[in-house]
Amino acid sequence: MAAKLTSSTLLHHILNKHHFPARTFPWRRVGARHCASFQQQKTQYSNHGATSSWDVQSYMPEAAALSNVQSYQELLDISVGDPETFWGVLARERLTWVKPFQMVKDCDFTQGRVRWFLGGQLNVSVNCLDKHVHQCPERVALIWERDEPGTQVNITYRELLDTTCRIANTLKKHGVQKGDRVAIYMPVSPMAVAAMLACARIGAVHTIVFAGFSAESLAGRINDASCKAVITFNQGVRGGRVTELKKTVDEAVKSCPSVKHVFVAQRTDNKVHMGNLDISLEEEMDKADSVCTPEAMNSEDMLFMLYTSGSTGKPKGVVHTQAGYLLYAALTHKYVFDYKQGDVFGCMADIGWITGHSYVVYGPLCNGATTVLFESTPTYPDPGRYWETVERLQINQFYGAPTAIRLLLKYGDDWVKKYNRSSLKTLGSVGEPINHEAWEWFHNVVGEKRCTLVDTWWQTETGGICISPRPSEPEAEVIPAMAMRPFFGIQPLLLSENGKVIEGGDVSGALCIAQPWPGMARTIYGDHQRFVDAYFKTYPGYYFTGDGAHRTNEGYYQITGRMDDVINISGHRLGTAEIEDALDEHPDVPETAVIGFPHEIKGETAFAFVVLKENLSLPEKAILEELKSIVATKIAKYAVPDHIMVVKRLPKTRSGKIMRRVLRKIVTNQTEDLGDITTLEDSSVITEILEAHQKYKMDKPGK
Ligand code: PRX
Repeated sequence: MAAKLTSSTLLHHILNKHHFPARTFPWRRVGARHCASFQQQKTQYSNHGATSSWDVQSYMPEAAALSNVQSYQELLDISVGDPETFWGVLARERLTWVKPFQMVKDCDFTQGRVRWFLGGQLNVSVNCLDKHVHQCPERVALIWERDEPGTQVNITYRELLDTTCRIANTLKKHGVQKGDRVAIYMPVSPMAVAAMLACARIGAVHTIVFAGFSAESLAGRINDASCKAVITFNQGVRGGRVTELKKTVDEAVKSCPSVKHVFVAQRTDNKVHMGNLDISLEEEMDKADSVCTPEAMNSEDMLFMLYTSGSTGKPKGVVHTQAGYLLYAALTHKYVFDYKQGDVFGCMADIGWITGHSYVVYGPLCNGATTVLFESTPTYPDPGRYWETVERLQINQFYGAPTAIRLLLKYGDDWVKKYNRSSLKTLGSVGEPINHEAWEWFHNVVGEKRCTLVDTWWQTETGGICISPRPSEPEAEVIPAMAMRPFFGIQPLLLSENGKVIEGGDVSGALCIAQPWPGMARTIYGDHQRFVDAYFKTYPGYYFTGDGAHRTNEGYYQITGRMDDVINISGHRLGTAEIEDALDEHPDVPETAVIGFPHEIKGETAFAFVVLKENLSLPEKAILEELKSIVATKIAKYAVPDHIMVVKRLPKTRSGKIMRRVLRKIVTNQTEDLGDITTLEDSSVITEILEAHQKYKMDKPGK
């Protein structure tokens, strides 16, 4: 065995294996063309719903320890009826502990107190890496599906552990300690995954900021979390375009006094300016030791925080902790998608969102899976990209967003049929409601009617999937475009406006969850009261999701959409107040109101009503352009409203509250019934806005 394996020698090893030109760092070259084909050890396809020999104990080996459970229904019953036993057994069996836990849970929703596996210690990176390296070091952990098709790079569990340890030692050398927050501003890539795991290894808390967010959004998150370090790339590559990640970080950290270092990895060969704070990550990794002793972390120590939008202007840092989150991510990954050892799991999400955390990284890696890191877009270089990738990588489970499916179905079936999709077993949808047309196309065309399609409902705060057609009884029906059934341990219920539990079938209400589960968020960073207020105050004793739902006579759940001022643009959650705050910054704009508006591909888009000052400094058209650029700069490009309509006044109640529901009705042409408008301060405002809307539609045909 060679003495010390430096990251250069390790990289050479990977290079040689993949026939990259020598001395080329394989994780960054945009133009590299070749990659060895990936021969996997595949297991025979067997859908747990489709075999006649289905038995609960081979499905979940812990069933025997769970009062000798014999059927799926008993399993589900015990998960809800006796969560201490259910989760206790699963946590002991599925996680590797440094010190066993003494208490399964200590929770009280009225206080917003959620704690699991108390007294236990473990390390998440050990559960995601060392555990598998010990058994099968050469199993492929990551397939990096880079932007250029056909240039994928495979990273084994051994290689990923090595890289993780080098980053961990680099962070430690530069003063990052247990409990410190580290911002990661990187698109999905092996380096980003290793950076997440490196933080987990040393007990630092990562907060990933989606690499499409602006410098100002990034700075806001870094400051809220008081991050000590930022990890980024020189540039990003997506859809054939290069993005200036390091420049955005430079801009952001100017106003972030807590940041002591910026670690810069290379994704492209282009040089970027390196300032006082900047450290070349690869150079440091070359010098670093490839072994790093993992920190023993308490179950309830923070693992990561992830900012998400609420109904106020300020995004909240949702906190997830170690053991409960990991167990829930791993279990949902296995049972919702029917993941089997040897499968290639393809979740198309970016690591900047919770889906990337739970189903690109933590769930699959904890299960020893091979997980795909998809760097590109569904239409690059053409609309066949997803399915060409499925064929080339032999993906078994494909998890994507309805917005991408809606976009692709417009290009027709040929782009799908061109490629062999026989490897696919399970299809999944996440992030927003999937409409019937998209569901049917995904199921019938992509999945050839033989794959199980699961519409999965969950949130950043829930940590993992809570409602989805699987798991379920063997061969249980799957109803199109419906999330349907709660996961183990999840007890959904519907509440009425006056806080009463709604019983029975064919009913609608506010979707709540009655009891805690290990994967749920623990707090909002730095503001526990906000956590209590947002999730536990509206319906005391229950977790309120913010979504509405319908329950059918069969007891299945259909999500009906948000009940607050949060909109969902291409599966990305955004508070309308965030956009309003950005627009209000313009000196010529005294007031705005933003609502969600249906969009064929994106699901929803922002529709902004703006009031302008009397004497404008610029022509109106120029101001509207400025408003768009303000939103892009202050938040992100995807947040820019598709519609900005100028009005003289906004509809307000006598107490000064904007009646957004009236605006929603007007723009969706439901003007016959505007609802109760008796509280409006001046009802003539309605006529004004209706006229403005008519004019807007004429000026912008088709809207
Ligand atoms: O409104 C629901 C919608 O997305 C919200 C959560 O957004 P986020 O925290 O960004 O997490 C997205 C990925 C898990 C929910 O409150 N949502 C998510 N999945 C679905 C959905 N709406 C309908 N159907 C779904 N399957």
